[in-house]
Amino acid sequence: MKILVTGGAGFIGSHVAEAYLRAGHDVVIVDDLSMGFLENIPDGARFVQMSINDAAFQQFVTAEQFDAINHHAAHMELRVSVDKPVHDATINILGSLSLLEAARASGVGHVILASTTAVLGEFIDIPATESHPVRPIAPYGVSKRAMELYADYERITHGMSVTTLRYTNVYGPRQNPHGESGVIAIFLEKFMKGASAVIHGDGTQERDYIHVDDVAAANLVALEQRVQGTFHICRNSAASVNDVVHALRDALSRECVVQYGPAKAGDPARTRASHDLFSSCTGWKPKIDLHNGISSTVAWFLRQGAE
Ligand SMILES: NC(=O)c1ccc[n+]([C@@H]2O[C@H](COP(=O)([O-])OP(=O)(O)OC[C@H]3O[C@@H](n4cnc5c(N)ncnc54)[C@H](O)[C@@H]3O)[C@@H](O)[C@H]2O)c1
Repeated sequence: MKILVTGGAGFIGSHVAEAYLRAGHDVVIVDDLSMGFLENIPDGARFVQMSINDAAFQQFVTAEQFDAINHHAAHMELRVSVDKPVHDATINILGSLSLLEAARASGVGHVILASTTAVLGEFIDIPATESHPVRPIAPYGVSKRAMELYADYERITHGMSVTTLRYTNVYGPRQNPHGESGVIAIFLEKFMKGASAVIHGDGTQERDYIHVDDVAAANLVALEQRVQGTFHICRNSAASVNDVVHALRDALSRECVVQYGPAKAGDPARTRASHDLFSSCTGWKPKIDLHNGISSTVAWFLRQGAE
């Protein structure tokens, strides 16, 4: 299949592109490099530097006649979305809508969209299933929810084949340690330099961390099985920020100094989600536990540091 991966120069999109290439597909990556890096682009993929917001993007999609589109390009800094909601909405809502329109106009066979459990807002039920109330509390969650609704509209009204995957906290090789989110990459980079990391709050806040290889595998399954609807991609297993620091300390075998600062306003105490729906529809299950995932991530970052 000829597949467009948007955001393929970024963290998750590059792993998805790699998984598709390994499965024998033809991969074209569109990324404007606003947050991505040329070195993330896997060998064998064709790269086009372009914004999904460019007028030329729709013409490009139509001309290329893709069999499938996997959409990972996004603005994803939650706190920036609070300061600049128009910027966030321009990429996540208008860019995604432009992509969906182009996919319909050119008869793309299947579309996969990367969404986030941030659309849920406060987690009322743990683990959160796909029937959990959706009440995003930041513009980033609002814009991703709008993308999901446009995808539902395309599926229901126009019969488009669409899978929407909502991730929890993804980590692994190639995560940008200078981003706003991604505590594992951010802390790891600091500890490797011998610097201390700041934990906001007492470190007991729990997150559902999932390794990027498991996420890429879910994207391959979604492509092959063309499952329709919205699914949580997660491990249904929570670890605290303190647990993450312990795992990093073990993997690095060195002293890792942390300081505790004031909790961030709006930071939920616990987030954990259920992948039962996607697992029962496709047979996919996350395979990488936090301990092994952190060990291999640390090994990758150490190799990069040595190069
Ligand atoms: N990282 C996580 O924990 C996480 C969790 C839930 C959902 N997601 C979603 O997964 C997707 C990928 O996230 P990531 O962590 O790999 O982020 P990332 O920033 O590494 O990747 C996003 C990529 O999109 C590109 N991009 C941004 N705006 C663009 C535009 N207008 N046109 C073309 N390219 C553009 C960036 O240059 C970057 O390479 C996003 O949609 C995000 O919302 C990520």
